[in-house]
Amino acid sequence: MNHANNPVSAAGTLPLGDLTVNRLGFGAMRITGPDVWGEPKDRAAMRKVLVRAFEFGHNFIDTADSYGPEVSEILIAEALYPYPKQLVIGTKGGLTRPSRHRWDEDGRPEHLRRAVDGSLKRLRLECIDLYQFHAPDPKVPFAESVGTLAELQRAGKIRHLGLSNVSVRELGEARRIVPIVSVQNEYNLQNRASDDVLAACEKAGIAFIPWFPLGAGSALRPAKVKRVAARLGATSAQVAIAWLLARSPVMLPIPGTSSIAHLEENAAAAALKLAPPDLAALD
Ligand SMILES: NC(=O)c1ccc[n+]([C@@H]2O[C@H](COP(=O)([O-])OP(=O)(O)OC[C@H]3O[C@@H](n4cnc5c(N)ncnc54)[C@H](OP(=O)(O)O)[C@@H]3O)[C@@H](O)[C@H]2O)c1
Repeated sequence: MNHANNPVSAAGTLPLGDLTVNRLGFGAMRITGPDVWGEPKDRAAMRKVLVRAFEFGHNFIDTADSYGPEVSEILIAEALYPYPKQLVIGTKGGLTRPSRHRWDEDGRPEHLRRAVDGSLKRLRLECIDLYQFHAPDPKVPFAESVGTLAELQRAGKIRHLGLSNVSVRELGEARRIVPIVSVQNEYNLQNRASDDVLAACEKAGIAFIPWFPLGAGSALRPAKVKRVAARLGATSAQVAIAWLLARSPVMLPIPGTSSIAHLEENAAAAALKLAPPDLAALD
């Protein structure tokens, strides 16, 4: 693969346990059909997006068994297997998709064991570099779900464990059971409700992976974002990503797209530096 044009490396790197990734990843939720359900219209085009994402320097790709379901993981393997050494794939389990609009928690040990085996098979891996518990299940004690994933890690199926959609309290509880290398919560210019979790990640020295880094589009619309973008000759998406990168050294944004043009635009945000007046304008 051609690394000559690798704009993402301008974002710098960050550790995920003993692995190192560029601090701007790729979110592979948008490569499925509409509503993250079923097949995309053009599978070959989505495989091309994945290959280009890696070529641009996105050596962290985020996915989940529930995207499609299964479609995103299968496409990643089709596009990128055998995987380049520098590529780190983070997947997730703990949500099921009984139908298009349902995302149901299932943190039962028997489900998580099946989910990890399913992801290993679809991704054609013997060990998953980063396995994230997608969301706590209110019907199952959190410690039981996390303990099951710790067991699967001891069995050699998972290299590093991450959490998603958790509170500071849940992060602390999980860390008392097993080492955690990342937390993935919703976070963007428009939604900073996880500021406390971000601070906890900074303190713990672990990655914070903001999902909806563009607010699924909503972070691109405020006038203040457009004004800063116009002043810098950048796009609103680039400003939203650059703001995240500037917000914390543990931040690992994973913008998602199904378009090569957007991929290219987002990758270029790695080099966009916001000066103090820009940051103040976005506050
Ligand atoms: N842990 C969780 O619970 C959770 C929940 C949601 C998402 N995630 C993860 O987070 C990743 C990112 O979230 P996301 O993809 O939902 O939202 P996002 O990155 O905030 O926004 C993606 C949306 O914005 C559009 N977009 C992308 N680049 C753009 C650009 N430069 N200009 C204008 N529009 C642009 C995309 O459409 P186009 O396809 O047309 O570019 C897509 O509709 C996902 O891929 C997934 O891996 C995790």
